[in-house]
Amino acid sequence: MSTLAPAAKLAPARKKVTTLSYRQKKELGEPITMLTAYDYPTALSMDQAGIDSILVGDSLGMVVLGYENTLPVTMEEMLHHARAVARGAKSALLVGDMPFMSYQVSVEEAVRNAGRFLKEAGMDAVKLEGGRERADAIRAITGSGIPVMGHLGLTPQSIHQLGGFRAQGKTAQAAKRLVEDAHLLEEAGCFSIVLESVPARLAALISRQLAIPTIGIGAGAGCDGQVLVTHDLLGLFDRFTPKFVKKYADFHGEMARAFGEFAADVRSRAFPASEHSVQMDDAEWDELMRQLPA
Ligand code: KIV
Repeated sequence: MSTLAPAAKLAPARKKVTTLSYRQKKELGEPITMLTAYDYPTALSMDQAGIDSILVGDSLGMVVLGYENTLPVTMEEMLHHARAVARGAKSALLVGDMPFMSYQVSVEEAVRNAGRFLKEAGMDAVKLEGGRERADAIRAITGSGIPVMGHLGLTPQSIHQLGGFRAQGKTAQAAKRLVEDAHLLEEAGCFSIVLESVPARLAALISRQLAIPTIGIGAGAGCDGQVLVTHDLLGLFDRFTPKFVKKYADFHGEMARAFGEFAADVRSRAFPASEHSVQMDDAEWDELMRQLPA
């Protein structure tokens, strides 16, 4: 058990963040903060740090489950991790990321799966990837009372179509299509849109044109908010870190150091010391010795 002061003392309890707070923050020009989480302790600490919203991203597949990309992630895996996050975070707006093939096959399936994030996992909203081709699904999901966050630009579930993890909207033609898609998603009912890996001035233009907030990841400072994959920010995912990530810690190195020290302590018998061991009264011990055959 840690001997540090309880983290709850770091920040007073705060009001629940809602999709309405998102809109108000945009109107007030207050940047929105969002991070990904996949488990209870991370969600708890983000909530206490005052992060506005938590995305249970399908990046889960890469940074937690070790898949090459996000395509293999299932609804059951997403719901399992979303439940853990919901148990940890009570104030942040919780967004469940709809995994590949949970919303593409039919509008009915999209609505049913979106509903599962709210009914079974305590999420407040869902996120899905894509532009105009998703407008019908977004209309149907929002029509069922479920808030939807869009996701444009580099949409990792389409990496095979995009030719890899590459920046989007870099030509005038591609940028125009992105601007149109952003307007279509707003019209379809999205309360916010993630813009991933697009030119900063294009993201700023879209953010100015839309009434709903944009959340950027590799999309510059002109977005209404910023999101990062937490394992990138913490330096916990060693395989690959996108250029747009700012690393705030080196948890991978720190974990390797701690694991190495543990192994060395066990081998040298420095751990466990007496303070890590359960003690027994001398009287009880003496009685045991008396009762056991010599
Ligand atoms: O899955 C995820 O973590 C995401 C973020 C990159 C926005 O979609």
